[in-house]
Amino acid sequence: MRMGELYKTAEGKEKHVPIIDLLKGEGKAGKDIVKVVVGKDVPHPNLTEHHIVWIELFGVKTDGNVIDIGRSVFGPGYTEPSACFHVSCADFKALVATSYCNIHGVWESTHEL
Ligand SMILES: [Fe+2]
Repeated sequence: MRMGELYKTAEGKEKHVPIIDLLKGEGKAGKDIVKVVVGKDVPHPNLTEHHIVWIELFGVKTDGNVIDIGRSVFGPGYTEPSACFHVSCADFKALVATSYCNIHGVWESTHEL
């Protein structure tokens, strides 16, 4: 079984799936900024009892190896589920973002480069 098969695909997709935006060359040392946001168009609840716990970003290299680029962990009510990573995207053929809701589980999106 692949990890992706475990992810949720049912209702609530629009407020759980992480959205990946890429700003080429605008990061530190000329790297690209990869911004990952959950609830971009439809806000996700941000309460202790229901919130986005973390966002994680992976890079898929041309040889298929998957690199864990980083993770942001959120305190409910104090910050929005949004993270920026400064990455050299030329090293990757795709970016994969995952997010975790404490009630609705893990969600995923892929941005092909
Ligand atoms: Fe949720």
